[in-house]
Amino acid sequence: MSARPLSRGLLSATPSKHLCSIAPRVAALHSTPVNLNQPPLKNDQSSSEPVTHFGFQTVKESLKATRVAEVFSSVASSYDTMNDVMSFGIHRLWKDHFVRSLNPGRRPGGRPMSILDVAGGTGDIAFRMLDHSEKVSGDRETTVLCADINANMLREGEKRAIQNGYDPNRISFRVENAETLESIPDSSIDLYTISFGIRNVTRIPMALKSAHRVLKPGGVFACLEFSKVSSAPLDAIYQQYSFSVIPLMGQLVAGDRDSYQYLVESIKRFPSQLEFARMIRDAGLVNVGKGYEELTFGVASIWKGVKPLE
Ligand SMILES: C[S@@+](CC[C@H](N)C(=O)[O-])C[C@H]1O[C@@H](n2cnc3c(N)ncnc32)[C@H](O)[C@@H]1O
Repeated sequence: MSARPLSRGLLSATPSKHLCSIAPRVAALHSTPVNLNQPPLKNDQSSSEPVTHFGFQTVKESLKATRVAEVFSSVASSYDTMNDVMSFGIHRLWKDHFVRSLNPGRRPGGRPMSILDVAGGTGDIAFRMLDHSEKVSGDRETTVLCADINANMLREGEKRAIQNGYDPNRISFRVENAETLESIPDSSIDLYTISFGIRNVTRIPMALKSAHRVLKPGGVFACLEFSKVSSAPLDAIYQQYSFSVIPLMGQLVAGDRDSYQYLVESIKRFPSQLEFARMIRDAGLVNVGKGYEELTFGVASIWKGVKPLE
């Protein structure tokens, strides 16, 4: 995987179709009270096109990526602040733990790693990977490619990389769809990560297949994502907080209620810990241990899988 200089990285690596200007605010996604027991998806009777979820709405598959792009274009500049506000800073602890648990960087006598952070957004995981590999393994060669479908999110990441003096030979930013990872060669990646990204992907099994394709045999897949709270009383409080407080905070802090309404709906829609572990296995990856580790009573979880040696 070649690292692109930051000064050219995003723009040169990005086909012009992705360099959309900031999309208009998402039009009223959902602001009415929601029924949490959603009916199963039904295909649109007026066309043969498959449909999928967009939060609690049902949309044609071909439209979901655009709608998700609109959300993240809209929240890009306030994304980092809102993460801190919504999670009381806990997302930082989860991300720290996620990266530490992967111990990225050169192993004694080994080679530097090629890391791919998919749905990497503003670079939170990528920066931690570089910091960890340097501090813990003294490794200044391991590289991270931060790939995301949204150029606006990547631009925020690129700005942060420059402001914080990250080596442009070690971090690069590129527009990529997790479902295809078109520019990433087969069996080229040592460590694939995706943090709070997979639930936004239209066809999750395709993204998992692509993860399997790009990983080297023996390479590791790791996903950090919101999950199901294990205790019913805690879940009741959490649901109340998610659906009443987070959209309101989105409105007050970021001036964007609808995007945060989508975010909480998409969390509710995501499969259970066990179901997602099964989807990882179905993509040909071998679960690590029971397949997942719950964080903060299951508010988030980490799933890991290994691509078997051929
Ligand atoms: C909640 S943000 C997470 C950003 C970062 N990984 C983090 O943990 O802070 C979700 C990211 O997923 C990206 N995304 C959504 N669908 C995607 C897709 N199909 N392929 C790649 N990235 C996608 C969005 O553009 C957004 O940047």
